[in-house]
Amino acid sequence: MVPTMGALHQGHASLFEVAHQLADVVVATIFVNPLQFNNSSDFKKYPLQLDRDVQLLEEHGVHYLYAPTVDTMYGSDFSTSVHIEGITDLLEGASRPGHFSGVATVVTKLFSAGRPDIAVFGQKDFQQFAVIQRMVSDLDMPIRLIMAPTIRERDGLAMSSRNVRLSTAARQQALAISQGLLAAQAQFASGIRESQQLIEAVESVISLTSAEIDYVKLVDAKTLQDTTSASEGSVIVVAVILDGIRLIDNHILV
Ligand code: PAJ
Repeated sequence: MVPTMGALHQGHASLFEVAHQLADVVVATIFVNPLQFNNSSDFKKYPLQLDRDVQLLEEHGVHYLYAPTVDTMYGSDFSTSVHIEGITDLLEGASRPGHFSGVATVVTKLFSAGRPDIAVFGQKDFQQFAVIQRMVSDLDMPIRLIMAPTIRERDGLAMSSRNVRLSTAARQQALAISQGLLAAQAQFASGIRESQQLIEAVESVISLTSAEIDYVKLVDAKTLQDTTSASEGSVIVVAVILDGIRLIDNHILV
């Protein structure tokens, strides 16, 4: 199973390809989940393009699509929320209260509906993967989780359904995110281990633009807690707001 919110792009397509390598039958889900948007205008502006999405699913040999309506998912008496403590308070969770409970609740429902053996998620949403991993482990869900690498535009910007909302100028400035991450990786490769220095490498590139930095952090891949000293496998996570649009990216240090 590959859960999505639609407005599919090559990043999603790569997840279907990974799924095909692991499973005989690939199911995609498309559901723009109101529970995970703490900002209702973000929800209303979320791009909808089911016909195009179906075409992409066909091109990638996806066998089934589950695309329920909001009423099917959440009847008027819906009362359950899946809340994961700890890692949902940090990073995206700190800036988007309730977001990860919305994600966990809908993913639980999608897993119940499809009962997949394997579910594929993208590294692009690194914290989301960590949260779902925690949930699957804590609740003994018999599902193998796979994290697939982030797919980028040719110039490095991580693909996202939100990118279409960027103005031409903001689209250009958004490049600073991946460039900053590359700068930090280059410093790490040259032997620098002090987190603050690696964080500043990212921030100094982004601060040349009009992007507002929400956070740039160097965290442990499992706990997502800040680390003072970087090692291979530590993750630099970034969130910025450009033109009112929130963009996230991350890089696992190698
Ligand atoms: P959505 O943003 O549509 O993303 C669906 C899946 O595609 C997620 O696992 C995400 O990490 C992955 N993805 C997005 N952009 C990617 C990229 N550039 N490269 C690789 N993978 C990418 O994430 C969600 O939907 C929702 O929160 C969901 C899990 C469906 C629950 O509603």
